Amino acid sequence: MTSATPSATPTSHAVVMGGSSGIGEATAALFARSGAEVTITGRDEKRLADAVVRIGGKTTTHRMDATAQDDIDAFFATVAPIDHLVIAVSGAAGSGAFAELDLAELAHGFDAKFWPQVRVLQAALGRLAEHASVTFITAASARAAFPGTSGLAAINGALEAMVPPLAVELAPRRVNAVSPGVIDTPWWGRVPQEQREELFAGLATTTPVGRVGTPEEVAAAIHSLATNGFITGMVLDCTGGANLATGR
Ligand SMILES: NC(=O)c1ccc[n+]([C@@H]2O[C@H](COP(=O)([O-])OP(=O)(O)OC[C@H]3O[C@@H](n4cnc5c(N)ncnc54)[C@H](OP(=O)(O)O)[C@@H]3O)[C@@H](O)[C@H]2O)c1
Repeated sequence: MTSATPSATPTSHAVVMGGSSGIGEATAALFARSGAEVTITGRDEKRLADAVVRIGGKTTTHRMDATAQDDIDAFFATVAPIDHLVIAVSGAAGSGAFAELDLAELAHGFDAKFWPQVRVLQAALGRLAEHASVTFITAASARAAFPGTSGLAAINGALEAMVPPLAVELAPRRVNAVSPGVIDTPWWGRVPQEQREELFAGLATTTPVGRVGTPEEVAAAIHSLATNGFITGMVLDCTGGANLATGR
């Protein structure tokens, strides 16, 4: 019998890109509670400073824009070796009925989500420990066939398609993705509260578990994939079953 390589030790270093809010923050908090050293990144110093207080543990911050290659390169030139890399940055562009879809907006959607995840991973390669984990955050839209989400399906589906070949090519480092459904995070702050509550209530009726998700639930899925040394090339749905219930 061969011995397993421990992939989660109290001395692990986890980097959460987009760790100052929502799913990234909840993931950073979970790693911090497990004793890992954690680095969170984001564009806004104040959001980072507030998040690090909430996260606690051995957490440090680095301000950077994950759409800017110079920022990405500067970060990975100095960051300590990484055991777990989680990429949770987001944009909001690219949704809407296909007939009216603004293709320039769709390109912005790729710029805000697809390219940062790809650029970050490529720049991180030299800093990843031999048995490091990488976790992309995609979205249920990649495969759920919700009308009005073909653009988001393209962005998130492109990322999901990269997971299996990357898992083989970058082995023994592991590459996975978590694909969330609708999750109540500050991202939804752009929708007025009353409208948001109505939307969440409507979604609850078509979601098998009867509600939208929490960032902590997605964080648990990410942490589980990141720390299980025998899982790679996997896209894990964390949707409350919403993607199973479209009736299509
Ligand atoms: N919430 C949902 O319903 C849902 C559903 C499916 C998939 N997802 C995916 O889950 C991931 C996390 O979403 P969330 O809801 O947790 O979003 P969120 O609460 O808005 O958090 C996004 C985080 O990413 C950072 N960020 C965004 N753009 C960045 C950039 N260019 N450079 C560096 N940092 C950046 C934000 O900080 P700054 O803005 O200060 O930079 C923040 O820390 C995203 O990939 C999103 O597409 C979310």
